[in-house]
Amino acid sequence: MIQKLQQAFRERYNKEATIIGAPGRVNLIGEHTDYNYGFVLPGAVDKKIYVAIAPNGTNTVNVFANQFNESYSFSLDVSEPHKGWMNYLLGVTYHIQQRGKKIEGVDLIIDGDIPVGAGMSSSAALCSAYGFGLNELFQLGLSRMDLAFIGQKTEHTFVGLQCGIMDQFASLHGKKGHVMKLDCRSLEYEYIPFDFPNYKIVLVNSMVSHTLASSEYNIRRQQCEEGIAILKKHYPQITSLRDIEPAQLLQHKDELPPIVFDRCSYVVYEKERVLASCEALKKNDLTTFGKLMFATHEGLSKKYSVSCTELDFLVECAQHITGVAGARMMGGGFGGCTINIVQADAVDNFTQKIQSAFTNLFKKTPEVYVTQIEDGAKIIG
Ligand code: GLA
Repeated sequence: MIQKLQQAFRERYNKEATIIGAPGRVNLIGEHTDYNYGFVLPGAVDKKIYVAIAPNGTNTVNVFANQFNESYSFSLDVSEPHKGWMNYLLGVTYHIQQRGKKIEGVDLIIDGDIPVGAGMSSSAALCSAYGFGLNELFQLGLSRMDLAFIGQKTEHTFVGLQCGIMDQFASLHGKKGHVMKLDCRSLEYEYIPFDFPNYKIVLVNSMVSHTLASSEYNIRRQQCEEGIAILKKHYPQITSLRDIEPAQLLQHKDELPPIVFDRCSYVVYEKERVLASCEALKKNDLTTFGKLMFATHEGLSKKYSVSCTELDFLVECAQHITGVAGARMMGGGFGGCTINIVQADAVDNFTQKIQSAFTNLFKKTPEVYVTQIEDGAKIIG
């Protein structure tokens, strides 16, 4: 990939490029908890967005996106969103300058192997790779956390997804062989080894591209806020669902609209599950960990209502295949992948079984990705 990109860059722009690789992410557990200021447990993966970048001495950014065979140019005086994937570049360009950082025009080629719309955060990886590249080229002195916030703001203001910080954080802070327990309020994080040579993290793509994702996602966020506003009357010190214990929520069940109660109940139990699963990981107890993953799926599907028929089917199916420790839908939902912890010597059987069952029912074959946990964004060439 590196050589191919360098060659393509020379041919297109007649000069040498710096190449940045920024990974997509998996999240073992802790879904829809980041914007509720709870905990998440993501890791960066071996699928990446690559950005080849070099300054061009002008006021213009020229981009060629290899996967889409599309090119686009824009001036650094970005003021508003455009459309599609360009918004990620426009947003990062805008928000870096909003921080008072001085940049110049650049030439870019973008490529990658993160499946788009599969819930593996290809968009966060794109923002991370581009932001990382600008930071390096122009010595802007932004930290990895600064770049994560710039990516998140881009989603909020140029894309319209009111996301949390998990995806951008993971793409920038990943560490080979480790997952990260991130406290989304204090932003403190801890690397926990994911050291199970006999197990693999296997993603199964439902092949449903999550089109509902942004509107429904934003609605879930509002419903959580509605819950907090009601609970705050009793617990004035709380600022997010992170501060609520299950017993407190149950005590005020009747005051919340049923749908808001369900959303809040998923979140407060998910906090407990993440903490319990981190303890299980530290004790190398994948059995307990796997059960917690299944429980998370149940909550996401029945209480948070962000799953879909295909995802539910994949998890149900995984539950009955030998060698599967745990499975659940991953990411924002409404499509994308399930994450499965599968015994290494059972992966082939798992793949064959799940693909054939799914294909029989839905008449399309789900892609399967066996992933490795890798480092976060870095210069690779
Ligand atoms: C998307 C968002 C994240 C997070 C997950 C759900 O990936 O970008 O911030 O909220 O959904 O856990």
